Amino acid sequence: MKDDFITWATEDAGLFGEDRGPFDLVVMNPPYKKLAANSRERRAVAAACTETSNLYSAFMALGIHLLAPSGQLVAITPRSFANGPYFRPFRKYLLDRMHIDRVHLFESRNKVFADTDVLQENVIFSATRTDTSDRGPIIVSSSHSYGDAIRSRSVEYGEMVNPEDGEHFIHISADEEDAQLAATHANLPATLTQIDCQVSTGRVVDFRSKEHLRADPEEGAVPLIYPLHMRNGGIHWPVPGAKKNNAIMLTPDNHKMTFPSGYYVVVKRLSSKEEKRRVVATVFDPEVTTDPRIGFENHVNVFHRSGAGLPKDVARGLCFWLNSTLLDRLIRRFSGHTQVNATDLRNLRYPSEAQLRAIGGEWIEDGWPDQEKLDDLVERHLEVEEAVSSGGA
Ligand SMILES: C[S@@+](CC[C@H](N)C(=O)[O-])C[C@H]1O[C@@H](n2cnc3c(N)ncnc32)[C@H](O)[C@@H]1O
Repeated sequence: MKDDFITWATEDAGLFGEDRGPFDLVVMNPPYKKLAANSRERRAVAAACTETSNLYSAFMALGIHLLAPSGQLVAITPRSFANGPYFRPFRKYLLDRMHIDRVHLFESRNKVFADTDVLQENVIFSATRTDTSDRGPIIVSSSHSYGDAIRSRSVEYGEMVNPEDGEHFIHISADEEDAQLAATHANLPATLTQIDCQVSTGRVVDFRSKEHLRADPEEGAVPLIYPLHMRNGGIHWPVPGAKKNNAIMLTPDNHKMTFPSGYYVVVKRLSSKEEKRRVVATVFDPEVTTDPRIGFENHVNVFHRSGAGLPKDVARGLCFWLNSTLLDRLIRRFSGHTQVNATDLRNLRYPSEAQLRAIGGEWIEDGWPDQEKLDDLVERHLEVEEAVSSGGA
């Protein structure tokens, strides 16, 4: 084997006609590294098979490319390819050509694959090269770490990959309880579009706007909201002496990066390890400030209605819903990492707007319910108590 697998797998067979497959079996534990958009590796893999942004998925794609008909690929990798937004073309490449036969999920996050702050769960999967569209059941197993008890079940293909999902997400879970959760999710009444909401990642990227940032509020500057301003369902602004800036000077250029005054739901993109729930959401209440515009920094996602605020009760109901135990369990089905991508939030189903208004109507000014009370009030309005094991009455 030469030093670089990417070069070897994508260049023409050498002078001596060195074998480039096809292979009956490819077993790999590929390296994990982000690939820059214009990197040599990325261009070579895109030319040979598919666009992909990580070395491990590039190795897998080339592994598939080199397989003989009915050949088998076995790989141990991070789980991120199953739902990460940047892996969509790779997922399509994989799912179009391979029948996934078995998947084993290591539920503990392994620092071996740590990508800066984002801890990854790992999977081992086995798949077979096929030219047909027939897809049978998949054996899914899971364990917490090496040597732990293994749970295993057979999953219908449609439960793991929804044929109508343009993102080609691969849902990996070994629990019957998970199947019930999938049904609960499917039964939620609305898509985000149907409740007339959108979610965007905060448009102000602080290091690109350095000259406009201000530590404290001042004339001509508007609030800049970071995760540090989020506490107990509300926005506490300004935070004097905070590590981050509190404000941004409004200029003709950055005006479009800010939102008009109104009610918004703000979600942290990264939850800290101490936080029990993946999604931490708060309501931006326009009473916080008289400023006409608000900047949301890139470390938060923002729910809005066509670039403006939401009706007050919808925002409050959405905030309760996003902080509920049920939502936490739904989002963990999709995601094996601690990042909450706007795409993940877009692909969830939601309570109806009427339900959100009713939930939001129970908001207590200057108070934030404990988790049990919050779950209880969400369940009462959704009538989903059987699906929430930690629920109240
Ligand atoms: C996760 S480790 C797996 C090591 C070994 N295969 C095993 O299973 O124990 C990934 C390996 O890929 C090697 N590697 C990194 N980039 C490579 C490349 N471009 N071509 C071939 N191997 C590479 C690394 O040196 C590393 O040994």
